[in-house]
Amino acid sequence: MTTPLHVERRLPGGFLADSLRADARAGLTAVPKSLPPKWFYDGAGSELFEKITGLPEYYPTRAEREILYETAGQIAALSGAGTLVELGSGSSEKTRLLIDALRSAGTLATYVPVDVSEPALVTAAQALIGEYPGLEVRAVVSDFEHQLGLPARDADGAPRLVAFLGSTIGNLLPSPRAAFLARVRASLAEGDSLLLGTDLVKDPAVLLAAYDDAAGVTAAFNKNVLAVLNTELGADFDLDAFEHVAAWDAEQEWIEMRLRAATAQTVHVPGIELTARFTDGEEMRTEVSAKFRRESVTAELAAAGFALREWWTDSEGRFGLSLSVPA
Ligand code: AVJ
Repeated sequence: MTTPLHVERRLPGGFLADSLRADARAGLTAVPKSLPPKWFYDGAGSELFEKITGLPEYYPTRAEREILYETAGQIAALSGAGTLVELGSGSSEKTRLLIDALRSAGTLATYVPVDVSEPALVTAAQALIGEYPGLEVRAVVSDFEHQLGLPARDADGAPRLVAFLGSTIGNLLPSPRAAFLARVRASLAEGDSLLLGTDLVKDPAVLLAAYDDAAGVTAAFNKNVLAVLNTELGADFDLDAFEHVAAWDAEQEWIEMRLRAATAQTVHVPGIELTARFTDGEEMRTEVSAKFRRESVTAELAAAGFALREWWTDSEGRFGLSLSVPA
């Protein structure tokens, strides 16, 4: 018998449309211009990201999967989780390794995928329900920067494991990142744990290739944010008039993706009654993807009130997975 899918919508009506307009207005009028990376992920953008995860240059997904494959049993034993909450769950692909291990350990009753994209969430959740008979899947539509959407503990008081994988935390700048971790900590109690995936600092050539692949999929993904503004705000961005740029900031230890105007141009954005002018060669930042070190992860977790319990990397030391608990 399969249990039905519960979908909880935590976002107030019109929240996404309002925040897209606010972000576009703020970003296109700022100097320098920028757009937040969360707007990459409409249907086409999510498909492009899935394609990126299979590219030869994009190692993070494979590296994290290798770690999870090796350590899922330990994670299950250490967390003893009755509820697995996954923030930014996307396609829930790597989650199966965790669900399998927690099911084998006999503790997992509930899986709570949390994502801002309802279609992606429902598709992924539906597939899991089919694969894991008896597993309660409670999908939560939420924006983890706006509201976490963590469920209370079940009546039996079983511990919760919050997973935030894929180094998605690297999209947050240092100060919002600290605030985010503190909010996760505040929503957890003694006995709960946090599983955090973080891409690590490495040879800049390897990093740059991961964000500027030969097949041009990352370039298409980057430009897709302009297509989103065209669709949602009636803008007239010409995607061919922008070039994909990936840059390594050695000071901040993060990758930046930018879109560079190939010529001077004027763009109309009727949805926010805005006209944006780009000079020839002007660059607009579209993503920060921070890279971490074991020490920086430990320190940021500690500052948020977490104590590191375990730290694992893949065999090539490219990606880190940490398990931490309330300090
Ligand atoms: C999903 C945010 C982890 O930063 O590596 C992939 C997104 N951007 N290629 C990342 C992304 C360009 C990805 N995260």
